[in-house]
Amino acid sequence: MTDTSTSSPDKAWSGRFSEPVSDLVKRYTASVFFDQRMAMQDIRGSLAHAKMLARQGIIDKSDLADIERGMALIMQEIERGEFIWSLDDEDVHLNIEKRLTALVGDAGKRMHTGRSRNDQVATDIRLWLRDAIDQILALIRSFQANLLDIAEQHADTPLPGFTHLQVAQPVTFGHHLMAYYEMTRRDAERFIDVRRRVNRLPLGSAALAGTSFPIDREFVARELGFDEVCANSLDAVSDRDFAIEFCAASSLLMMHLSRLSEELIMWMSPRVGFIDLADRFCTGSSIMPQKKNPDVPELVRGKTGRVNGSLIALLTLMKGQPLAYNKDNQEDKEPLFDTADTVIDTLRIYADMITGIRIKADAMRAALTQGYATATDLADYLVKKGLPFRDAHEVVALAVRAAESSGRDLPDFSLVELQVYSSLIGEDVFQVLTVEGSLASRKHIGGTAPEQVRQAIAQARKTLS
Ligand code: ARG
Repeated sequence: MTDTSTSSPDKAWSGRFSEPVSDLVKRYTASVFFDQRMAMQDIRGSLAHAKMLARQGIIDKSDLADIERGMALIMQEIERGEFIWSLDDEDVHLNIEKRLTALVGDAGKRMHTGRSRNDQVATDIRLWLRDAIDQILALIRSFQANLLDIAEQHADTPLPGFTHLQVAQPVTFGHHLMAYYEMTRRDAERFIDVRRRVNRLPLGSAALAGTSFPIDREFVARELGFDEVCANSLDAVSDRDFAIEFCAASSLLMMHLSRLSEELIMWMSPRVGFIDLADRFCTGSSIMPQKKNPDVPELVRGKTGRVNGSLIALLTLMKGQPLAYNKDNQEDKEPLFDTADTVIDTLRIYADMITGIRIKADAMRAALTQGYATATDLADYLVKKGLPFRDAHEVVALAVRAAESSGRDLPDFSLVELQVYSSLIGEDVFQVLTVEGSLASRKHIGGTAPEQVRQAIAQARKTLS
């Protein structure tokens, strides 16, 4: 039954107003078309709140039963796509509350006792973000598992390591990929850390100052799986630093994937030719029949800009706000949702894309013989024979100059030719001038020696399992 003495106004707050808002203002201030994504979280939060109200004797048990019955119907309507979202009801919270009241009467109107949309929305976002983080963590793990498989297959495959994009020293392809494993390991750590601060309950803060009802916040926190309750009501309803942290962690992850994308793009260029990407991640050109473009990695690189933009949007959104809640905060959702969507899609596509890389080991090795990649090994060799490092550096620089002008690589020199630069050079020099010798010698933790790469992979597999 509806209590007619407090007849339902058009809007939850229209009682104080003498004229309706214009259609433009209604559209401008509404969030229902994007915050309806949090409908299930909103309902979970409301159910936990109502359960607490009933336990505390603030509403009747029969009200709780009505609320639970109504919410079950609403969930069905939403799942079936039958729920009618209305701009007139501004946001997800008011849409659901209005429908609940239509379905169960006064119990629906009592549900909001001791609560405000301010603590309600902060709770919904945290519940939503917690789920998104859990999904992202699982996806990072699948990406890493695939990366480890390829790194293992190529623990011995030599590739030029670059500095300044100039051939520097030989590394293994496995070692190179493991660098990205380490980057994404730190990314996962960051998301785990952000999750700790996301997982605190704002509900109970009400509009800003708390509530005069005898609520039990700890109970609600337990019901919703929060680790603790937010300790200050003003802070809890107003700050969105947890969302900003999430966007920062997302920006860093995307930045790492963007770097990898840049490498894939470069490696796939016919000028480099180190890899080929599976056709399903590339597109052709409508005018140049020979083209196969690495669209997917290019888009990952491009979408990194979009994710960075969202981080800046949220930082800017927050910086000018006095305590406590301001409507500015409604603008937090679209950048946040877009960031989570972009990160989730990117990780999904990446996990698949890296398994479709064809490695052209011959091209990698050929590039190694063109850049004097073992020059440092020759210098280290001379140092081990007693020459101070700076002198060794000079000797090798002269040898490289000569090699360059005669169009050869260092291992192409004869022993006699090499001895022109230093009499310390002996027959054993050819071992260190080979790519395999160079790789095998870097056998400490973090080095590129195949045995170390295998150990790093084994360690990573333990962490992942
Ligand atoms: N739609 C609002 C938001 O996203 C909900 C909170 C509104 N609170 C208010 N007092 N207007 O932030």
